[in-house]
Amino acid sequence: MICLGVESTAHTFGIAIANNNKVLSNEIKSFTTEHGGIVPNLAAKHHVEVCDQVLKSALKRANVKLGDIQLIAFSISPGLGHTLRIGAMMARTLSILLKKPLVGVNHCIAHLEVGRALTKAKDPVLLYVSGANTQIIAYEAGKYRIFGETLDQGVGNLIDSFARFLDLGFPGGPKIAELAKHGKKLIELPYSVKGMDVSFGGLLTNLKQKYITGKFTKEDLCYSMQEHIFAMLVEVSERAMAHTGKQELLLGGGVACNTRLQEMAKQMCKERGARCYVLPNEFNVDNAAMIALTGVQMFNAGSEIKVEKSEIKPYERTDDVNVIWR
Ligand code: ATP
Ligand code: FE2
Repeated sequence: MICLGVESTAHTFGIAIANNNKVLSNEIKSFTTEHGGIVPNLAAKHHVEVCDQVLKSALKRANVKLGDIQLIAFSISPGLGHTLRIGAMMARTLSILLKKPLVGVNHCIAHLEVGRALTKAKDPVLLYVSGANTQIIAYEAGKYRIFGETLDQGVGNLIDSFARFLDLGFPGGPKIAELAKHGKKLIELPYSVKGMDVSFGGLLTNLKQKYITGKFTKEDLCYSMQEHIFAMLVEVSERAMAHTGKQELLLGGGVACNTRLQEMAKQMCKERGARCYVLPNEFNVDNAAMIALTGVQMFNAGSEIKVEKSEIKPYERTDDVNVIWR
């Protein structure tokens, strides 16, 4: 089955073509800024401007014509209303014009399903670390359950906020990671793990205060921030694995591109005799391949939706979805 996937939950607009669980193309264009953060209506404007071009390049790279498409999948939730609407409109239009079925995919779940489709992971705990989201997710009794999550902001938003404070532009993750490589001294920062949950708010305030004193270098602060937040995330992931008895950890979301986080997660898994799966970066950041791959599975299990019922759900939670395809 040839499926066209559309992703538009936040700053990235993506179109991918998948043939069952094989990715034929995975094209993205992302809204970025040199200063400041993401502005929802500007990101939506960006998506309108690039959607045609992204569609053309996805078809070309996959060597597929519009007429070959058999299924349309799109990210229906969760995310920014402004940007979700652009992808949803495009998916509905294609579904009507091509007379092909439509499937609405939860973006967080797609971050896990892409790992099951493209790695050997069968039933992993997902450490899902992106801009807006920080969750430890695993399958249990018909749903993807959230075993732990951030009590305030997502880890990527924390990284991006500190980057914005240092005037590094958006997204800040890769720039902070680069500065962190040159850090030499580990500065003690708030370490906030509450049971299975984490909290970052106090840490961000503390980092800003420390920077303003002028006594600490950017490099040392970035290095120390990474060491603290990644240790917190790996700790709760390990606890989730112990609780669920699962032997696989999958990393997902844009922050999973960070090689220091990957290293720490692999080390933890090695020590407990478990396996750690890391996807190529193009499937960690927001992408449409994960939407297409999940869409195929959902459709095969009967999850088609009608165009008139395909309203976006900006606030849907991972555990609101009945996982009928597993
Ligand atoms: P979601 O809708 O799933 O919350 P998102 O819109 O935040 O996703 P993603 O592409 O999954 O988008 O994640 C973006 C985040 O990843 C940003 O916070 C960005 O700074 C961060 N990021 C990207 N590359 C790296 C990296 N190498 N190291 C750390 N963080 C990174
Ligand atoms: Fe994402």
